[in-house]
Amino acid sequence: MLMQAATTLDRAQAAETTLTARYAKVIAASKRIRWDLERDVFRGRTLGLTRKYMPDGLSRVKDLPFLRAPEARLFSQVQGRTYANLFGLVERFIGAKTLEVSRDHALGDQVALEALVRFADEEIKHQEMFRRLETMAAAVMPAGYAFAPDPNDVATMVLGKGTWAVLGLTLDLEIYTQAHYRASIEPDSELSDLWKDVFLFHWKEESQHAILDELEWRREDARVDAAARDRGVTELIELVGAVDGMLQAQAQADAAYFVRIAGRAFTMAEESALRDVMLKAYRWQHIVIGAQEPRFADVLQALVTPAQMTRIGEALAPIVAHVAS
Ligand SMILES: [Fe+2]
Ligand SMILES: [Fe+2]
Repeated sequence: MLMQAATTLDRAQAAETTLTARYAKVIAASKRIRWDLERDVFRGRTLGLTRKYMPDGLSRVKDLPFLRAPEARLFSQVQGRTYANLFGLVERFIGAKTLEVSRDHALGDQVALEALVRFADEEIKHQEMFRRLETMAAAVMPAGYAFAPDPNDVATMVLGKGTWAVLGLTLDLEIYTQAHYRASIEPDSELSDLWKDVFLFHWKEESQHAILDELEWRREDARVDAAARDRGVTELIELVGAVDGMLQAQAQADAAYFVRIAGRAFTMAEESALRDVMLKAYRWQHIVIGAQEPRFADVLQALVTPAQMTRIGEALAPIVAHVAS
């Protein structure tokens, strides 16, 4: 009996040591990669308009064959501007949630605490990077662009949901931002060097964040009971719905801005195609790619029941169908 208790204790201690080692690895990578906004990313450069921002693999611009080359470039620049603003927006709630989760470790595992504090610090730096990119875009692009959602309003709405759902959404975001970089941004040689560098440096630090999101999400999952998890699934579906609502409004605004600044008249059918492709692109970037990313889908599948997985799939189905149409 005593031996058995000792073995259980050993096992618990071993698990804790392994977990601490994983947080320690993240800290080591974060220290190795750490970059400075001015010295490494901006280096005195400003944004220009001669090259694309958003890569074709994400912008769906090829679905608009009637656009001439300079118009296609402008289309990618409007999207690239919103893309940076959206990350600046979500990082407000990600930073706040990370600080909240870190309090759980405050008098416990100091290695985990350090990893999460670094994570929050990096997200604050990223928000400044995206704000500066927006200021640069505003200086060179025609007036009339508007990014409607307010970071604090969105954060208040998101943080009103339970931790299980917020960490699920956060893991999704931090995995798909990496997938975007590797599959579409990195291989596109026609992008603005500065815009591309912003997402290169962002990707480097996001790699650590996704590891921490998964650790914290699993920790939260181990703490909740079946009813709370089921509520978490419902809230995660609601959060994806809220993201979709934001994408719909921004796609409308961005398509209207593009039509106003493109410098020529489009037919009614072309304008309608512009609006539709803008929304398809945003849904593809921020909802569908993440949901299909195996690294996210595998964790989700491990945490939820097959019935809950079906529920999530059914909620996403109309968006997936629209993007595929
Ligand atoms: Fe970030
Ligand atoms: Fe992040």
